[in-house]
Amino acid sequence: MASSLSSPAASAVAAARSKVFGGGKKDGRTGCRVGIARKNFGRVVMALAVDTSRFEGVPMAPPDPILGVSEAFRADTNDLKLNLGVGAYRTEELQPSVLNVVKKAENLMLEKGENKEYLPIEGLAAFNKATADLLLGADNPVIKQGQVATLQSLSGTGSLRLAAAFIQRYFPDAKVLISSPTWGNHKNIFNDARVPWSEYRYYDPKTVGLDFEGMVADIQAAPDGSFVLLHGCAHNPTGIDPTPEQWEKLADVIQEKNHMPFFDVAYQGFASGSLDEDAFSVRLFVERGLEVFVAQSYSKNLGLYSERVGAINVICSAPEVADRVKSQLKRLARPMYSNPPIHGARIVANVVGDPTMFGEWKQEMEQMAGRIKNVRQKLYDSLSAKDQSGKDWSFILSQIGMFSYTGLNRNQSDNMTDKWHIYMTKDGRISLAGLNLAKCEYLADAIIDSFHNVN
Ligand SMILES: Cc1ncc(COP(=O)(O)O)c(C=O)c1O
Repeated sequence: MASSLSSPAASAVAAARSKVFGGGKKDGRTGCRVGIARKNFGRVVMALAVDTSRFEGVPMAPPDPILGVSEAFRADTNDLKLNLGVGAYRTEELQPSVLNVVKKAENLMLEKGENKEYLPIEGLAAFNKATADLLLGADNPVIKQGQVATLQSLSGTGSLRLAAAFIQRYFPDAKVLISSPTWGNHKNIFNDARVPWSEYRYYDPKTVGLDFEGMVADIQAAPDGSFVLLHGCAHNPTGIDPTPEQWEKLADVIQEKNHMPFFDVAYQGFASGSLDEDAFSVRLFVERGLEVFVAQSYSKNLGLYSERVGAINVICSAPEVADRVKSQLKRLARPMYSNPPIHGARIVANVVGDPTMFGEWKQEMEQMAGRIKNVRQKLYDSLSAKDQSGKDWSFILSQIGMFSYTGLNRNQSDNMTDKWHIYMTKDGRISLAGLNLAKCEYLADAIIDSFHNVN
């Protein structure tokens, strides 16, 4: 199991630093070490800077493992190419689209001619109310009693990052437990916030399912009071979620160990098509009276990817605690980005606040979730019909949400790209949102070939 202390990236950076900063001459004015060549023009000796960029110590960063896939896809000129890398919804024509209800809300906003004044640090009040209501249910006692500290933040990523900064500041001895595997950015977020993390078992390659016993054992073995990062629904990258009974058991263990549950909710409503069903796990922990962190994103369920709209919610034991927590989250946000953007927050607040538009959103969300379920089914049917080996592909149907973990290893995933022009992350994850019915058979051929003919 990996942990932040043994990060190979950290040692690579340290090596690069010592290589670069170890040599050269120190510049008296700037204190920087620079390479200097002396050139003699008669009696005038001039110091010419050679390789004197102040950025000598900045090594080239590797491409992002997810966003880098799209770059490689764009460079491929083959007609058969298919981008199953990035988790962004596409229509059946494989085109990105804006939800009709979003266009409608935007038109209304234009008509009203709203201004672009700064928001307060905590964001748009109407958005904060709407987002906590959607997450917990408007009648939830914790909302009515003022126990929820909600801050609009920069989508899911920014909300996670803000929470990580909070953990680093107020729980400096705690570590965060994250699932193995998890969404690629989680480790970056906690590394950058200098929060130590380690992994708990999650995925079982033998069953292409959940290693529930391993998960429970690792959460039990962690130091008391750890933060346990959980995917609220539609686990990324595996698409494998605990059952309701397993969630109950997890809540037992987390409660016994005095751990802090920290939910990442990036797919509410997008996974099953129902906002309430997808919030089951979070509400279960809240009902037990636990204090809970929840990061939310509207990238997928409302298609607001580039608007960067989301929130961090901290459900606290009392209103007075929530006030203190919120004041500190604001204090952390102020020097990071000052205040969040207004446009996406207004869209969410207007859609949720208007019964007609709210209904339209739910319908569109169901359609998106439905399209993904259709291609999931067709992919399973194609694999089962074409693969003569008797392999059981039913794990594809047990998975939920935008992604499917195919069980393909790195070499096999490379074969998918090199031979079949199918772009995906190297961990065997495919985004079904980038697939349509017409391409399912082609994808099945590629998976069967990669699975059986590549080690
Ligand atoms: C598990 C998980 N968390 C958080 C995010 C954050 O997304 P965003 O920052 O676009 O809201 C994603 C996006 O793919 C995700 O899959």
